Amino acid sequence: MESPMTKQPMRVWPAEGASRAPYWIYDDPEVFRVEQERIFGQSWCYVGLAAEVPEPGRFQRSHVGDRSVILVRDKEGKINVLENRCAHRGMEFCRASAGKATRFLCPYHQWTFDLEGNLCGVPFKRGIHGEGGMPDDFDLADHPLRKLRVTNHNGAVFASYAEEPEPFERYLADPMRAYFDRVFDGRPLRVLGYMRQRIPCNWKLILENTKDPYHATLLHSFLVTFGLFRADQKSEVRLDPSGRHAALVSRHGGRQLTVAASEMASYKSDYTLQDRRLLDMQAEFHDGVGVVMMTLFPNLILHQQGNSLATRHIVPRGPDSTELSWTFFGYEDDDEALSTRRLRQANLFGPAGLVSLDDGEALKATQEGLRNARDACAVVEMGGRDREDANVMVTETALRAFFHHYMHVMGFVRAEDER
Ligand SMILES: [Fe+2]
Repeated sequence: MESPMTKQPMRVWPAEGASRAPYWIYDDPEVFRVEQERIFGQSWCYVGLAAEVPEPGRFQRSHVGDRSVILVRDKEGKINVLENRCAHRGMEFCRASAGKATRFLCPYHQWTFDLEGNLCGVPFKRGIHGEGGMPDDFDLADHPLRKLRVTNHNGAVFASYAEEPEPFERYLADPMRAYFDRVFDGRPLRVLGYMRQRIPCNWKLILENTKDPYHATLLHSFLVTFGLFRADQKSEVRLDPSGRHAALVSRHGGRQLTVAASEMASYKSDYTLQDRRLLDMQAEFHDGVGVVMMTLFPNLILHQQGNSLATRHIVPRGPDSTELSWTFFGYEDDDEALSTRRLRQANLFGPAGLVSLDDGEALKATQEGLRNARDACAVVEMGGRDREDANVMVTETALRAFFHHYMHVMGFVRAEDER
């Protein structure tokens, strides 16, 4: 792909390739604009759960990239994803975050759309007393809301702005599909609650954070101290062939620490929990895996950490601001005790979570550090310089795979190739 941006010297990727990430990808408004076109305007993007719109008329606002969309179940029970932009003057007409409707009415001039996004009413279409009105050949059928392509995969809903998006089976292929279907196994889901936060950082930093098990073994005192995710546990990093998605898998180890505590300053030997129930996890997946953190490019993180299940929807709000929207869920057939466990364990996550608050703080400070450092870059060499699966936590292989894919879709060239 030819990109006008690559012609500018400062937009050339470092010659080392995917083991470097130039800091201008995180704060340049022009890069952000091109990402909206080439990534969020083309890829399948997560928009929500089918369980959020359980019956005809129920709708939920969502985003694809920085664009507002509406997820709505129509009279036939089909889920549609419609752009939240009136076909008349462009108003973002749906202001409620969720609700039930028989049609969508734009408040500005009351143009009315059905649940499939078709225009079904224009006030004063014939004018008043024969004066004014729309031209005779104005046809309602020519002015629907923009309709996105939709896939409902076992209750997870994805949408794409592309006219002909890549087949979903290829987008979510094995081995990622198997990890995804482990949680989205077809059982009806029950939404347990939401958390939302705005992190003053670029959207990619959030995705990268969840592709990076190295930091999780060091930054997060809670994980390290209480043995939930530690460098000495049996673990895997699995990548998809394109490099864009990843799964970090960790099996619960014993409580015995087998790496030097000096390697992990965040290990707090004198910390105890007042409420041990936070660690009271019930085995529910047959493979016995305690943690699977998945990133699905470009905007979804799916976590299974103990009994906590959640989607984290990444909504870019500008080069240096991102909304992270957490949807905690379980299954409709969960008993009361399991639902309570899931809710209790949700205390680890979200803006004030015992684990996740560290990430919010680290990402904010990272964005501050790389601001205007456009001639510098991140060094991503832990675990080697390749982009292969790994059986160790202390690796940045999933980051290199991500940068490799990102360079490709954005049309950036390496300094070496340019010569
Ligand atoms: Fe983290």
